[in-house]
Amino acid sequence: MDDKKIIFSGVQPSGNLTLGNYLGAIKNWVKLQDEYNCIYAMMDMHTITVRQTPADIRRRTFEVLALYIACGIDPEKVTLFIQSHNPAHAELAWVLNCYTYMGELQRMTQFKDKSSRHAENINAGLFTYPVLMAADILLYQADFVPVGKDQMQHIEICRDIAERFNAIYGDVFKVPEGMLPKVGANIMSLQEPTKKMSKSDENPKAYISLMDDMNIIAKKIKSAVTDSEGVIEYREGDETKAGVNNLLSIMSAVTGREIDSIAAEYSGKGYGDFKGDVAEAVVECIRPIRQEYDRLISDKQYLLDICAKGAESAARISQRTIKKVYKKVGFVV
Ligand code: TYM
Repeated sequence: MDDKKIIFSGVQPSGNLTLGNYLGAIKNWVKLQDEYNCIYAMMDMHTITVRQTPADIRRRTFEVLALYIACGIDPEKVTLFIQSHNPAHAELAWVLNCYTYMGELQRMTQFKDKSSRHAENINAGLFTYPVLMAADILLYQADFVPVGKDQMQHIEICRDIAERFNAIYGDVFKVPEGMLPKVGANIMSLQEPTKKMSKSDENPKAYISLMDDMNIIAKKIKSAVTDSEGVIEYREGDETKAGVNNLLSIMSAVTGREIDSIAAEYSGKGYGDFKGDVAEAVVECIRPIRQEYDRLISDKQYLLDICAKGAESAARISQRTIKKVYKKVGFVV
């Protein structure tokens, strides 16, 4: 093992990936792959906290893998694997469950949100989801976890669990830090811009899926909700500007330009012109990803080989942590 720092992150294959997933997480992962030892997974075990169609999870797991690679992740440099292929995630999650308090889990925003949306299925897995996520990260002794803003609360609880365990047993876990992209950490819904863009939104006009046709993507951006003021200006925290703020963030994230310079360019111009240009920039960003994706998804054997190699390497790395943890808590190893 070299002395590069370790990065861990993943996406749930629970729906088509959105522009939010790309700009908030995956785009950042690509930038990190040379400087760090990166481990990225398809988090299938997390998806069953909400009822799913089994065939959809299986299909989407490969779609997510093909998208990672199409977005620029190099399987030669990065460990890519399917979470359920490494049993150590479930093993460590069980141990950590015994070091996590009910009260802490009750405070999780995502639990409150998902349990109100799925009132008929508030299962124990949905409740302890952040513990599985902590296990995902701590198993690999990750230094950094590149995610979007909505996951930061889960990183905080992961740190708390790690610190609590270390306080009892000595330095077992590296205490990881969340890593947000400079822009794009919180891409909002195109229809209700005070809510985050989510792949599980019932209204497909609210999100851009990386699987959408290019003309649909353009249409969705052009029909994004803005305001009646007609001024293209970024005003942090001003809810009436949430739609314009979001489009400016999207434009900045896909072009790499500063928000202020984009806003200055559109000073005095109308929303129509602006939305047209944002639509074009987003389409130009997604088009090459889609082309590469279409090529990769038809090569199932290639994808299977990557998963097999990735799972082996993930299991090897995480066994060191499992052994240490089992020994510390008193299991016979
Ligand atoms: P998931 O699958 O909901 O989202 C994957 C990544 O995309 C980011 N993201 C966004 N970023 C900006 N704007 C948005 N609208 C937006 N929507 C999603 C998320 O922050 C995330 O980084 N629990 C995680 C998956 C997970 C994980 C892990 C992540 C399981 N174990 C360990 C990191 C480390 C989740 O549901 O992400």
